[in-house]
Amino acid sequence: VATRRTRIGLITGGGDCPGLNAAIRAVVKSARIDRGCEVVGIEFGFKGLVERRVRPLGLDEIHGIIGRGGTILGTTNRADPFHYVDDAGNDRGDVSAEALKNAEALGLDALIVIGGDGTLGIAGRLGDLGLPVIGVPKTIDGDVMGTDTSIGFDTARSVCVDAIDRLDTTAEAHERVMVVEVMGRDSGFLALHSGIAGGADEILIPEIPYDGGTLAGFIDDRRRRGRTHAIVVVAEGARPVGGAPSVEEHHIRGRGEVKLGGAGKVAADVIADAVDLEVRVTNLGHLQRGGTPTAYDRMLAARFGVHAARLASQRAQNRFVAIRHDAMVDVPLAEAAGRRKVDPDGELARMARALGLSLGAAPRR
Ligand code: F6P
Repeated sequence: VATRRTRIGLITGGGDCPGLNAAIRAVVKSARIDRGCEVVGIEFGFKGLVERRVRPLGLDEIHGIIGRGGTILGTTNRADPFHYVDDAGNDRGDVSAEALKNAEALGLDALIVIGGDGTLGIAGRLGDLGLPVIGVPKTIDGDVMGTDTSIGFDTARSVCVDAIDRLDTTAEAHERVMVVEVMGRDSGFLALHSGIAGGADEILIPEIPYDGGTLAGFIDDRRRRGRTHAIVVVAEGARPVGGAPSVEEHHIRGRGEVKLGGAGKVAADVIADAVDLEVRVTNLGHLQRGGTPTAYDRMLAARFGVHAARLASQRAQNRFVAIRHDAMVDVPLAEAAGRRKVDPDGELARMARALGLSLGAAPRR
């Protein structure tokens, strides 16, 4: 009797980021070449599993994609089989049984899910229902639990640092304070890393609510010492002490959606009110998520992809591929639950302060 080859399903879920295609390529290559498995690409995140939108992924399909941003599988932020809303906006409730039935009908022996905390949470719940699931961390926010970093973070950080370098020279030429708003949702890793690496003067992160007096006073003190330009990096989730994060309403397909945005403008107004310098805001937006991945993210994607394909070929149950102290490990998928936060008293924050950076508030101790 001819035995069927192990068939691995592959999903990218949540927002895109550079390095997803490099990870897809690594999974497909190593699954085929090293493990002798087939790979089925599930399109548009979990939506593809619910609506059976799939395509075979062979070596031809992944040719030439290593440096391409986005995901060849198409992605969606919201598709959740445990609470499914279809394209027409119909709330179909829990359709996880349908998703599992489809996985079975497609002959999937295991599912590799590349995602951030939301996607990995859904993956874990599907895994609990019996489907062998392997999670791979990606997000430019750098906040996936249980891993030191994730696919996309290094690229986004590089984009931010490049932007800060460019803003610094024009800030100097015009004696301006440049406020740079970066992504990161409710964690400050992207802001802190890019601010430190970009040589910023002040960095505001969600984990440390800022004090307006400290924020503006720091820039004013510098100005009095003759420093007439400055760079202030503001995480999109940053907020003043006692205040709420800034949000903006977006009109999306006929519906209003509230998303983080505007924190840079709020901080800029605080500075402009108190300091005799022109203050301008640049919001880096989705530039941080597009384009070609760095060499580091390609390597990370390759390491994660190869490790995940091996686990999937063994039909490992609910595992999570992570990098810890530069080593590839796999741990229970439950360890990826939740979002990592910057420790306000931890090494990163203390190091920033030791470099003379202001984090917009006095240290707690
Ligand atoms: O999680 C990645 C991220 O880029 C966040 O930093 C940001 O808040 C969010 O996604 C933006 O999502 P969208 O592109 O759906 O507005």
